[in-house]
Amino acid sequence: MCGIVGYTGKRPAVPILLEGMRRLEYRGYDSAGIVIYENGGLTLKKKAGMLSVLEETINGSNFTANAGIGHTRWATHGAPTDDNAHPHIDCSGRIAVVHNGIIENYIKLRQWLKAEGHIFQSDTDTEVLPHLIEQFYRGDLQAALLKTMEMISGSYAILAVCHDEPGRIVVARQDSPMVLGLGEGENFIASDIPALLPHTRNTYLLDDGELADVTPGGITVCDKKGVCVNKEVFYVNWEAEQAEKSGYEHFMLKEIHEQPTALRETLRGRISEDGQSVVLNELDIDPAYIKGLRKVFITACGTAYHAGVVGKYVIEKLARIPVEVDIASEFRYRDPIIGPGDLVIVVSQSGETADTRAALREARQRGARVVAITNVVGSSVAREADDVIYTWAGPEIAVASTKAYVTQLTVFYLLAVWLAEQRGTLLVREQEAILDSLKKLPRHIETLLAQSDRIAQLADRYKESHCMFFLGRGLDYAVAMEGSLKLKEISYIHAEAYAAGELKHGTLALVVEGVPVIALATQPELFEKTVSNIKEVKARGAEVIGVAIEGFMEIEEVADQVFYLPATHPALAPILSVVPLQLFAYFAAVARECSVDKPRNLAKSVTVE
Ligand code: AGP
Repeated sequence: MCGIVGYTGKRPAVPILLEGMRRLEYRGYDSAGIVIYENGGLTLKKKAGMLSVLEETINGSNFTANAGIGHTRWATHGAPTDDNAHPHIDCSGRIAVVHNGIIENYIKLRQWLKAEGHIFQSDTDTEVLPHLIEQFYRGDLQAALLKTMEMISGSYAILAVCHDEPGRIVVARQDSPMVLGLGEGENFIASDIPALLPHTRNTYLLDDGELADVTPGGITVCDKKGVCVNKEVFYVNWEAEQAEKSGYEHFMLKEIHEQPTALRETLRGRISEDGQSVVLNELDIDPAYIKGLRKVFITACGTAYHAGVVGKYVIEKLARIPVEVDIASEFRYRDPIIGPGDLVIVVSQSGETADTRAALREARQRGARVVAITNVVGSSVAREADDVIYTWAGPEIAVASTKAYVTQLTVFYLLAVWLAEQRGTLLVREQEAILDSLKKLPRHIETLLAQSDRIAQLADRYKESHCMFFLGRGLDYAVAMEGSLKLKEISYIHAEAYAAGELKHGTLALVVEGVPVIALATQPELFEKTVSNIKEVKARGAEVIGVAIEGFMEIEEVADQVFYLPATHPALAPILSVVPLQLFAYFAAVARECSVDKPRNLAKSVTVE
């Protein structure tokens, strides 16, 4: 997520803007910029790289401006370059905008604006905004932004300034956070509270569809029709560090709770308006190549690998293409039988994992086409692959991956339906049913998050366990792998994921009185079998927590505790069943007073072999 700041008042604006941007650095970014009202006009400074690079271009400038806006960019559309950095300006340079979010219909708008004579300087979706405001500007910046809001679809938090209206900052919000700070003869704007705390704790939290007009003398808020809205003052009683986590105790918990938004952002613009097909404009693959595909390979590490195991199941199930999935550090050394006509999918949240990058190069050397699924625009994996499908989860700070996993699964579902459509292996109504269920998942995740207290109680009950088993069949086995890794890496409790049907071939010997087992039983055609496996471990004294789809009540007869998931298409169950497992691991780690966000021995991105 990008960081946005704004100031208008009586003090020098540049130090306030830079301090605010520094306080938002934790959100992750790859370029930064400001625009200020200086000497009767707009002065723009922006650079790729860290804030220090921007500061080098500003130091010694002795700016006296008392108003301006700033931005730290987490790239989504367009690599992190000087031109793609915010703020963006219109043709005349008299209007400047910063933006957080995704303008879904930017391609059509860009085409229309070009036809109207506008010249673009960047590859970003954001740059349509200053040109739209320019197109509609008739002397009132707020009126021009209101018209712009009518034209755009997607998520946005926008700040706009105009050369002809010094000291005025106009703000609009839809789906991306925006907070207004109330001062004495000065006012502040930020995408997140930490940037406001040095100056004020009195704020307005802008709501979706609202627009604010900010000057040193005051703030007025209106709706999309220009009708004034009375806002209540929200007093912030968090300290700065808490504010970076939006009030959550750890980044991991914040990121678990960000999953509904991350999923919505990753789906945004990728399902056709009629809801029947997938739109993946970022894939530039000849349909004949897809039809002639011999095999798909998926390779990744850790959680990304677990996402790949789900990917295998869904691509084979929906697109009927054989899929092999490998841990990247194994893939690169097993002399894989790969060549032209094969598709290799590499998955990496950071896009910098050494083993995954090496596997990517191995695949390309053997002539396969490589598609990357990654969360970081411009990362090594993104640059080296033939095609990239971005997860739009925003920066993931906690070492334990959560929202990245859920958005990786989302991309696999989109890709599986897209492949199925290319190869004609699904009926349109089947595609429609899956995509319709996919769109409902964010709300379902919110339902599950509301059960956190119950999961915390269970985690506390098992926090002293020496080991734990995660069982499942098919897709449930794939999610069991992820649940097991989450518990191990942050609570340090040894855990093992096991194919439920495989237990009796050895590992059942480890199941004795009191051993905790989480059994996933979300797949209708495997439900009875998994219930039998639960009986197997119960008969040896295990304590079982069952996870099933609502309505499959039989599981209550065998499991000690049951978590029900909202009904969804069985293929999509992993996106829901992983949530209680993430929360269980989190609360177990908290109960054991572990370092949740930075577990021992681990790094967020393993850039060495
Ligand atoms: C997952 O919680 C771990 N942090 C780790 O397994 C991680 O998924 C793995 O290192 C891969 O990282 P990547 O997705 O950035 O390539």
